[in-house]
Amino acid sequence: MCGIVGYVGEKPVVDILLEGLSKLEYRGYDSSGIAVNCDDKIETYKAKGKLQNLRNLIEPIHGKLNKSSYGIGHIRWATHGSPNEINAHPHSCNCGKLVIVHNGIIENFKQLKEMLTNCGCEFRSQTDTETVAHLIAHKFGEYNDLKKAVSEATKQIEGTYALCVIHQDVKDTIVVTKRNAPLIIGIGENEHYVASDVPAIIQYTKKAVYLEDNQIAVLTPSTMELFDKNLNKLEPKVEILPWESMSLSKMGFKHFMLKEIHEQPDVVRNILTDKLTGCDEPIQLNEVKLTKDELKKLNRIQVVACGTSLHAAMVGKYIIESLCSIPVDVEPSSEYIYRKTVTDENTLVIGVSQSGETADTITAIRQSKARNSHILVITNRPDSTMARDADSLLPVNAGIEVSVAATKSYVAQLVSFYLLAIYIAEIQGKMDKDTLTNIKNELVILPQKIEMILAHKENIQACARMYSNSRNFIYIARGINYATALEGALKLKEISYINATGYPAGELKHGPIAMLDETLPVLSILMSGMVYDKILSNSEEAKARNAKMIALTDSDDENLKELFDFIIKVPKVQELVSPILSIVPLQLLAYYIAEFLGKDVDQPRNLAKSVTVE
Ligand code: G6P
Repeated sequence: MCGIVGYVGEKPVVDILLEGLSKLEYRGYDSSGIAVNCDDKIETYKAKGKLQNLRNLIEPIHGKLNKSSYGIGHIRWATHGSPNEINAHPHSCNCGKLVIVHNGIIENFKQLKEMLTNCGCEFRSQTDTETVAHLIAHKFGEYNDLKKAVSEATKQIEGTYALCVIHQDVKDTIVVTKRNAPLIIGIGENEHYVASDVPAIIQYTKKAVYLEDNQIAVLTPSTMELFDKNLNKLEPKVEILPWESMSLSKMGFKHFMLKEIHEQPDVVRNILTDKLTGCDEPIQLNEVKLTKDELKKLNRIQVVACGTSLHAAMVGKYIIESLCSIPVDVEPSSEYIYRKTVTDENTLVIGVSQSGETADTITAIRQSKARNSHILVITNRPDSTMARDADSLLPVNAGIEVSVAATKSYVAQLVSFYLLAIYIAEIQGKMDKDTLTNIKNELVILPQKIEMILAHKENIQACARMYSNSRNFIYIARGINYATALEGALKLKEISYINATGYPAGELKHGPIAMLDETLPVLSILMSGMVYDKILSNSEEAKARNAKMIALTDSDDENLKELFDFIIKVPKVQELVSPILSIVPLQLLAYYIAEFLGKDVDQPRNLAKSVTVE
């Protein structure tokens, strides 16, 4: 994770760097720093904590620093070394003339550090990054050429990196390179920008070059030279970014998370508008590049994802297996990549990721691609690395999600899975048409049902108030909503730091039941359908151990009031489609508990929205 920015040109450098970093805060926010040229020297400023601390530090000299002509900046999510000022980037060599910012992990940093220490380098931080600063400086001493120094140094580095390098004696120049971490170069009038992601530069330019792995670019105000790792010159591929500059606003909501939860009805409508033209019409998914024959031949689907996207994938498995009878495996990408997986050309591999930049998922889909599987990517970022690697790209179009805890991107991923499953089922032609039409009908009225939940959120707020002092929470469900239990618990953990766990309700008696007593709330996801009675029995078992019982249900059964201490009611919904609805109250519950506890809802501790390290 971590976000990096750079600028060389005549505009106020510090303003551009700080503004850019603020747009990259979703990538980390435990410390930040900038380095700019000032009075013929490179000056570095770093601060622990939120970006505002760096702004406060720079404030007295802001005007002077703004006159610099080149600079780099960094916002950190700590991997090596705790988040303090010393470990914050930029990092420099012994003499401080060469300064770098880095996103990624240097896997062989211990060996490099030992070698460099023997050469007289003095290390100040506990980071892996500092080795790179010393290594490039060492090579610069040898070659007196910054791009050559970067090229030689990166040949010795193992791991992942996006790097910006500046040197006091190489004026008005930034050298950048990357391997398995994103980096984009923005082209302006007599100026160049560099950043980990588009939002940091889009307000200044739409002309950009996506750097590819192992390429090295040398940026000055008027020139951009691109090289491969052996410094053979390349022709840059300039693209026009399909983005509008936008200022992200909370639109009157207290937090971005609450705003994004409220955007979900429109998110569902947007996705459906394009793809579902009428409930009797077949789903349009031109994005799927497999032919009808190839789709019919599929013998297996593997879905790889992390975090919230993994939960969307679990619902996806359920729905695809129900409608298409194709076996689906779902696996965390981080596990998938370290075992022998049986994949062939009749296996479809689906990567799910809101950011499209999650390192483990990128590795997973690349491994499968090497085994000739078709790669379908479901992402909220059609310009991301994963999207670029995909054979078929299904953009979920949820709009920018600022809150680190994913909400609307999850719901959008769910809807995409439903459309994909119906699409495949329609091509297979085996599923009865009425079933598919019913699901489509239900999808179309879902936005209104979500709106009804949002309109009655006071009840959920009251529930949050009642249980916000609990130290533990258990969410139980069965069938298609098991993933909802996991996702609801994850939301609560992420933003309130309460120990919340999701279980398949039938598993409660095989261990977790030992934890139950009158201090522990058990939330049962009790949606009408096949497993309703089963969950009811499992809830009775929990009640008999004095647990505090909460129901999330679409049932009108008055008897539930005897079993449950609190009932969160949602509109009636078909079981197969219910995960899209049932997650919404759980997002709100997590939100209101965290808000009630005074937590930093949009930027919870230790997390980042884009996880570009393994
Ligand atoms: C991080 C985020 C989660 C997200 C996970 C996977 O941990 O904080 O919200 O679910 O990464 O990210 P992806 O972008 O691949 O969905």
